[in-house]
Amino acid sequence: MKRLVINGGKPLHGEVYISGSKNAAVGIVAATILANDICVLENVPDVSDIKIMLDVLTSLGANCKREGEIVEIDTRGINTWVADQDSISKMRGSSYLMGALLGRFHKAQVYLPGGCSIGPRPIDQHLKGFSCLGSDNKTEFGRVTCDASNGLFGNNVYLDLMSVGATINIMLAACTAVGNTVIENCAMEPHVVDVANFLNAMGASIRGAGTDVIRITGRRDLHGCTYAIIPDQIEAGTYMVAAAATKGDVIIKNIIPAHLEAISAKLMECGVEVIEGDSGTEFFMHVRAKERPRAVNIRTLPYPGFPTDLQQPMTSLLAVAYGNSFVTENLFEDRFNHVRELNRMGARITLNGRTALVAGVEKLYGAEITATDLRAGAAMIVAALMAEGTSIVRNIHYIDRGYEKLTEKLRGLGANITRVEE
Ligand code: EPU
Repeated sequence: MKRLVINGGKPLHGEVYISGSKNAAVGIVAATILANDICVLENVPDVSDIKIMLDVLTSLGANCKREGEIVEIDTRGINTWVADQDSISKMRGSSYLMGALLGRFHKAQVYLPGGCSIGPRPIDQHLKGFSCLGSDNKTEFGRVTCDASNGLFGNNVYLDLMSVGATINIMLAACTAVGNTVIENCAMEPHVVDVANFLNAMGASIRGAGTDVIRITGRRDLHGCTYAIIPDQIEAGTYMVAAAATKGDVIIKNIIPAHLEAISAKLMECGVEVIEGDSGTEFFMHVRAKERPRAVNIRTLPYPGFPTDLQQPMTSLLAVAYGNSFVTENLFEDRFNHVRELNRMGARITLNGRTALVAGVEKLYGAEITATDLRAGAAMIVAALMAEGTSIVRNIHYIDRGYEKLTEKLRGLGANITRVEE
């Protein structure tokens, strides 16, 4: 059992360096399959979801070498379109193997993706997109088979909802299709743009990423490239919330300020000081708080709205706000597993469907708490850092999926945190 022991109540102070974006990296690692060549990726986060993706690519025949934050992937040795490794069903991003294998081999068979338990996570929009491009899709025995033996052909795809996964998957399949594809009502998240930029660096022709219409002209001659992955918006946001929650003073380095506008705005509304800066070599965010936050309302929305992935850590902060906050989760049906744990620490949160009424209390108290998914884990860390007394956070394998060197980074900020593995 791995767990974290946190003695809370200490303000975080100092500087923290943000790693590469996990959600961009899972897409980009899958996209290297399309290059059939060598890609050198910089700023690749060393988190368990990326390890799983690299292991899966290796078992498909790729050669993956990591040196620090640089990963070299040679996908010339991949000669199968069947990805049936058990680990695929443990993560959501593995769905990108479908689009990438389909784009390269015009066929793909992949175990249904898993991922955090935050409500039903269908892939109907991914499959609808593949069908529009000419693939015949079947789901049986827990795996999806996509068959476009007659070729992939560009088409118009209208997404019923703004799905990050469907947008990336359809881009992967479409960038080698014959002709033009237009994806409408697509997701605009920074990691969608980063995957598109990477595909363009490999020779693809994708325009409009970052807006709700993406246009792709199919090209067969993709090639390897060197590419630096963007910083992780959600990791940065989590440290911003942790700094505010502990009444700390933290400089968060290696960020893209525009990606953090929603969280910066909400923290400022809470009374937290948030200052964007540019050191000349990089951007940074300075977050400082002296008081308990003021209550604010949050509604999660697709980018550029407030990100669902920060709803959970933000709920921990609001648990100690002056006044009542409403937190509404619009993206996932069941992303409130952290509420029960926060209430065990003294929070007063009532759930009503997809809205949590958070009645602010003066402080939280240390307890034995469980991370039920990745971002619920981040919420537990924020809560434990500000709570009075000792907390034990269980199930930290969820947190390891998305936060690189969490213990080291928090210790560097003065937190009293120990990882226990036995
Ligand atoms: N949806 C459908 N049908 C589909 C696809 C999605 O109904 O075919 C629904 C989902 O059920 C959900 C909504 O659309 O209600 C949005 O889902 P989306 O597809 O955008 O999410 P995702 O691709 O499964 C990614 C991130 C999540 C992040 C969401 C939203 C990865 C690997 N995962 O998931 O990240 O919460 O976008 O921004 O990129 C995390 O990092 O902790 C995490 C869960």
